[in-house]
Amino acid sequence: MSQNLLLSTDSTAALKSSGSRIAVLTAYDYPMARLLEEAGVDWLLVGDSLGMVVLGYPDTTSVTLADMVHHTAAVARGAKNVPIISDLPFRTYDTPEQAVHSALKLTQAGAHAVKLEGGVSKSPHIEAILSQKIPVMGHIGMLPQHIREEGAYRIKGRTDADAERLIEDALALQNAGAFGIVLELIAPETSAKITAALKIPTIGIGSGPSCDGQVLVTHDLTGAFPWFHPKFVTPLASTGEQIREAARAFVSRIHCT
Ligand code: KIV
Repeated sequence: MSQNLLLSTDSTAALKSSGSRIAVLTAYDYPMARLLEEAGVDWLLVGDSLGMVVLGYPDTTSVTLADMVHHTAAVARGAKNVPIISDLPFRTYDTPEQAVHSALKLTQAGAHAVKLEGGVSKSPHIEAILSQKIPVMGHIGMLPQHIREEGAYRIKGRTDADAERLIEDALALQNAGAFGIVLELIAPETSAKITAALKIPTIGIGSGPSCDGQVLVTHDLTGAFPWFHPKFVTPLASTGEQIREAARAFVSRIHCT
Protein backbone atom coordinates (compact mmCIF):
# COMPACT_ATOMS: atom_id res chain seq x y z
CA MET A 1 0.00 0.00 0.00
CA SER A 2 1.35 3.46 -0.85
CA GLN A 3 2.60 5.51 2.15
CA ASN A 4 -0.02 8.24 1.73
CA LEU A 5 -2.83 5.69 2.23
CA LEU A 6 -1.50 4.56 5.61
CA LEU A 7 -3.52 6.01 8.45
CA SER A 8 -1.21 5.24 11.37
CA THR A 9 -1.34 7.15 14.65
CA ASP A 10 2.25 8.31 13.96
CA SER A 11 1.40 9.72 10.53
CA THR A 12 -1.80 11.45 11.65
CA ALA A 13 -0.18 12.82 14.84
CA ALA A 14 2.63 14.24 12.65
CA LEU A 15 0.00 15.80 10.38
CA LYS A 16 -1.63 17.40 13.43
CA SER A 17 1.61 18.72 14.86
CA SER A 18 2.55 20.21 11.47
CA GLY A 19 -0.63 22.31 11.71
CA SER A 20 -2.06 20.90 8.46
CA ARG A 21 -5.85 21.00 8.30
CA ILE A 22 -7.58 17.84 7.10
CA ALA A 23 -10.48 18.09 4.63
CA VAL A 24 -12.76 15.04 4.66
CA LEU A 25 -15.89 14.44 2.59
CA THR A 26 -18.24 11.49 2.30
CA ALA A 27 -18.40 9.40 -0.86
CA TYR A 28 -20.72 6.51 -1.56
CA ASP A 29 -20.14 5.68 -5.22
CA TYR A 30 -17.61 5.64 -8.06
CA PRO A 31 -18.22 9.06 -9.70
CA MET A 32 -18.33 10.96 -6.41
CA ALA A 33 -15.16 9.29 -5.14
CA ARG A 34 -13.39 10.10 -8.40
CA LEU A 35 -14.56 13.73 -8.42
CA LEU A 36 -13.58 14.27 -4.77
CA GLU A 37 -10.14 12.74 -5.33
CA GLU A 38 -9.67 15.03 -8.34
CA ALA A 39 -10.68 17.98 -6.10
CA GLY A 40 -7.90 17.19 -3.59
CA VAL A 41 -9.87 15.92 -0.61
CA ASP A 42 -7.49 14.48 2.04
CA TRP A 43 -9.58 11.50 3.22
CA LEU A 44 -12.82 9.97 1.97
CA LEU A 45 -15.44 8.66 4.37
CA VAL A 46 -17.91 6.02 3.23
CA GLY A 47 -20.31 7.15 5.92
CA ASP A 48 -23.38 5.23 6.99
CA SER A 49 -25.11 8.57 6.30
CA LEU A 50 -25.62 6.87 2.95
CA GLY A 51 -28.63 5.33 4.70
CA MET A 52 -30.38 8.71 4.47
CA VAL A 53 -28.89 10.47 1.45
CA VAL A 54 -28.62 7.48 -0.89
CA LEU A 55 -30.95 4.76 0.39
CA GLY A 56 -33.82 6.93 1.69
CA TYR A 57 -34.02 5.64 5.28
CA PRO A 58 -34.93 8.08 8.09
CA ASP A 59 -31.64 7.41 9.93
CA THR A 60 -28.50 5.25 9.81
CA THR A 61 -29.83 2.33 11.84
CA SER A 62 -31.10 0.30 8.85
CA VAL A 63 -27.76 0.32 7.03
CA THR A 64 -26.27 -3.18 6.78
CA LEU A 65 -22.73 -4.44 6.48
CA ALA A 66 -23.62 -5.64 2.95
CA ASP A 67 -24.67 -2.05 2.06
CA MET A 68 -21.35 -0.71 3.37
CA VAL A 69 -19.34 -3.37 1.52
CA HIS A 70 -21.18 -2.58 -1.75
CA HIS A 71 -20.61 1.19 -1.47
CA THR A 72 -17.03 0.87 -0.18
CA ALA A 73 -16.12 -1.25 -3.23
CA ALA A 74 -17.60 1.39 -5.57
CA VAL A 75 -15.66 4.18 -3.82
CA ALA A 76 -12.45 2.13 -3.97
CA ARG A 77 -12.88 1.75 -7.74
CA GLY A 78 -13.22 5.55 -8.06
CA ALA A 79 -10.43 6.80 -5.78
CA LYS A 80 -7.04 5.13 -5.90
CA ASN A 81 -4.83 7.60 -4.03
CA VAL A 82 -6.93 8.85 -1.13
CA PRO A 83 -7.33 7.02 2.18
CA ILE A 84 -10.84 5.51 2.38
CA ILE A 85 -12.44 5.17 5.81
CA SER A 86 -15.66 3.12 6.02
CA ASP A 87 -18.22 3.19 8.78
CA LEU A 88 -18.96 0.05 10.73
CA PRO A 89 -22.77 0.12 10.64
CA PHE A 90 -25.15 -0.23 13.59
CA ARG A 91 -25.09 -3.60 15.41
CA THR A 92 -22.09 -4.90 13.42
CA TYR A 93 -19.57 -4.29 16.23
CA ASP A 94 -21.40 -5.27 19.40
CA THR A 95 -18.44 -7.42 20.52
CA PRO A 96 -14.72 -7.08 19.72
CA GLU A 97 -14.92 -10.36 17.71
CA GLN A 98 -17.85 -9.08 15.65
CA ALA A 99 -16.01 -5.78 15.14
CA VAL A 100 -12.99 -7.63 13.71
CA HIS A 101 -15.18 -9.69 11.37
CA SER A 102 -17.02 -6.58 10.09
CA ALA A 103 -13.83 -4.51 9.74
CA LEU A 104 -12.21 -7.27 7.68
CA LYS A 105 -15.20 -7.28 5.29
CA LEU A 106 -14.84 -3.52 4.78
CA THR A 107 -11.08 -3.67 4.19
CA GLN A 108 -11.54 -6.60 1.77
CA ALA A 109 -13.93 -4.28 -0.13
CA GLY A 110 -11.22 -1.60 -0.36
CA ALA A 111 -11.38 0.47 2.85
CA HIS A 112 -8.02 1.48 4.34
CA ALA A 113 -9.55 2.09 7.77
CA VAL A 114 -12.86 1.82 9.63
CA LYS A 115 -14.77 4.17 11.90
CA LEU A 116 -16.97 3.27 14.85
CA GLU A 117 -19.16 5.28 17.20
CA GLY A 118 -18.67 5.42 20.97
CA GLY A 119 -16.23 6.25 23.74
CA VAL A 120 -14.50 4.41 26.60
CA SER A 121 -16.61 1.25 26.14
CA LYS A 122 -15.29 0.84 22.60
CA SER A 123 -11.58 0.54 23.59
CA PRO A 124 -11.56 -3.31 23.45
CA HIS A 125 -13.21 -3.20 20.01
CA ILE A 126 -10.55 -0.79 18.71
CA GLU A 127 -7.72 -2.90 20.15
CA ALA A 128 -9.18 -6.05 18.55
CA ILE A 129 -9.49 -4.40 15.12
CA LEU A 130 -5.96 -3.00 15.39
CA SER A 131 -4.66 -6.50 16.16
CA GLN A 132 -5.58 -7.26 12.52
CA LYS A 133 -3.57 -4.17 11.42
CA ILE A 134 -6.72 -2.27 10.43
CA PRO A 135 -6.56 1.42 11.44
CA VAL A 136 -9.56 2.71 13.40
CA MET A 137 -11.15 6.14 13.71
CA GLY A 138 -13.36 7.03 16.68
CA HIS A 139 -16.58 9.09 16.67
CA ILE A 140 -17.94 10.85 19.75
CA GLY A 141 -20.50 13.55 20.54
CA MET A 142 -23.85 13.10 18.82
CA LEU A 143 -23.89 9.45 17.75
CA PRO A 144 -26.29 9.01 14.80
CA GLN A 145 -26.55 5.24 15.41
CA HIS A 146 -28.18 6.11 18.77
CA ILE A 147 -30.73 8.54 17.35
CA ARG A 148 -33.67 6.32 18.31
CA GLU A 149 -32.74 6.44 22.03
CA GLU A 150 -31.71 10.12 21.82
CA GLY A 151 -34.85 11.26 19.97
CA ALA A 152 -33.14 14.25 18.29
CA TYR A 153 -29.78 15.51 17.00
CA ARG A 154 -28.68 17.66 19.98
CA ILE A 155 -25.43 19.50 20.76
CA LYS A 156 -23.23 17.63 23.27
CA GLY A 157 -20.64 18.91 25.72
CA ARG A 158 -22.53 21.96 26.93
CA THR A 159 -22.18 21.23 30.64
CA ASP A 160 -18.89 20.77 32.51
CA ALA A 161 -19.82 17.18 33.35
CA ASP A 162 -20.62 16.31 29.74
CA ALA A 163 -17.43 18.03 28.55
CA GLU A 164 -15.38 16.00 31.08
CA ARG A 165 -17.01 12.78 29.93
CA LEU A 166 -16.25 13.58 26.27
CA ILE A 167 -12.60 14.38 27.07
CA GLU A 168 -12.31 11.03 28.90
CA ASP A 169 -13.88 9.25 25.92
CA ALA A 170 -11.47 10.95 23.49
CA LEU A 171 -8.42 10.06 25.60
CA ALA A 172 -9.61 6.45 25.89
CA LEU A 173 -9.98 6.18 22.11
CA GLN A 174 -6.52 7.68 21.63
CA ASN A 175 -5.03 5.26 24.20
CA ALA A 176 -6.73 2.33 22.46
CA GLY A 177 -4.91 3.31 19.24
CA ALA A 178 -7.43 5.32 17.18
CA PHE A 179 -5.68 7.45 14.52
CA GLY A 180 -8.28 10.23 14.68
CA ILE A 181 -11.67 11.07 16.14
CA VAL A 182 -14.79 12.57 14.57
CA LEU A 183 -16.40 15.12 16.89
CA GLU A 184 -20.05 15.45 15.90
CA LEU A 185 -22.25 18.28 17.19
CA ILE A 186 -20.03 19.12 20.17
CA ALA A 187 -20.10 22.61 21.70
CA PRO A 188 -17.17 24.53 20.14
CA GLU A 189 -15.46 25.29 23.48
CA THR A 190 -15.53 21.59 24.38
CA SER A 191 -14.25 20.46 20.98
CA ALA A 192 -11.40 22.99 21.37
CA LYS A 193 -10.51 21.38 24.74
CA ILE A 194 -10.67 17.86 23.28
CA THR A 195 -8.51 18.90 20.31
CA ALA A 196 -5.91 20.44 22.65
CA ALA A 197 -5.86 17.32 24.86
CA LEU A 198 -5.08 14.89 22.03
CA LYS A 199 -2.00 14.01 19.97
CA ILE A 200 -4.19 12.57 17.19
CA PRO A 201 -6.36 14.80 15.00
CA THR A 202 -9.99 15.66 15.64
CA ILE A 203 -12.27 15.96 12.62
CA GLY A 204 -15.29 18.11 13.38
CA ILE A 205 -18.79 18.18 12.00
CA GLY A 206 -20.94 20.94 13.46
CA SER A 207 -18.41 21.26 16.30
CA GLY A 208 -16.80 24.65 15.64
CA PRO A 209 -13.58 25.77 13.97
CA SER A 210 -10.93 24.49 16.42
CA CYS A 211 -10.82 20.89 15.20
CA ASP A 212 -7.79 19.70 13.22
CA GLY A 213 -10.01 18.94 10.24
CA GLN A 214 -13.61 19.10 9.12
CA VAL A 215 -15.91 16.50 7.57
CA LEU A 216 -19.18 17.05 5.75
CA VAL A 217 -21.73 14.86 4.10
CA THR A 218 -21.05 15.73 0.44
CA HIS A 219 -24.76 15.89 -0.34
CA ASP A 220 -25.11 18.68 2.28
CA LEU A 221 -22.17 20.61 0.80
CA THR A 222 -23.37 20.29 -2.78
CA GLY A 223 -27.13 20.67 -2.28
CA ALA A 224 -27.68 17.17 -3.64
CA PHE A 225 -30.21 16.34 -0.89
CA PRO A 226 -32.29 19.54 -0.99
CA TRP A 227 -35.03 18.35 1.36
CA PHE A 228 -32.84 18.70 4.44
CA HIS A 229 -30.10 21.20 5.37
CA PRO A 230 -28.13 20.84 8.61
CA LYS A 231 -27.92 24.30 10.24
CA PHE A 232 -24.11 24.27 10.34
CA VAL A 233 -23.61 23.71 6.58
CA THR A 234 -23.66 26.41 3.91
CA PRO A 235 -24.18 24.54 0.62
CA LEU A 236 -21.64 25.63 -2.01
CA ALA A 237 -23.61 24.24 -4.97
CA SER A 238 -27.21 23.36 -5.78
CA THR A 239 -26.87 20.15 -7.74
CA GLY A 240 -30.33 18.93 -6.68
CA GLU A 241 -31.94 21.95 -8.31
CA GLN A 242 -29.70 21.61 -11.40
CA ILE A 243 -30.85 18.01 -11.82
CA ARG A 244 -34.50 19.11 -11.53
CA GLU A 245 -33.89 21.85 -14.14
CA ALA A 246 -32.14 19.48 -16.58
CA ALA A 247 -34.93 16.91 -16.16
CA ARG A 248 -37.64 19.58 -16.64
CA ALA A 249 -35.90 20.76 -19.83
CA PHE A 250 -35.70 17.16 -21.09
CA VAL A 251 -39.36 16.48 -20.24
CA SER A 252 -40.57 19.60 -22.03
CA ARG A 253 -38.37 18.91 -25.07
CA ILE A 254 -39.86 15.40 -25.35
CA HIS A 255 -43.44 16.54 -24.66
CA CYS A 256 -43.16 19.30 -27.29
CA THR A 257 -41.87 17.09 -30.14
O1 KIV B 1 -21.94 8.74 8.33
C1 KIV B 1 -21.34 9.82 8.18
O2 KIV B 1 -21.37 10.46 7.12
C2 KIV B 1 -20.56 10.30 9.31
C3 KIV B 1 -20.20 11.75 9.29
C4 KIV B 1 -21.40 12.52 9.65
C5 KIV B 1 -19.05 12.05 10.17
O3 KIV B 1 -20.30 9.58 10.22
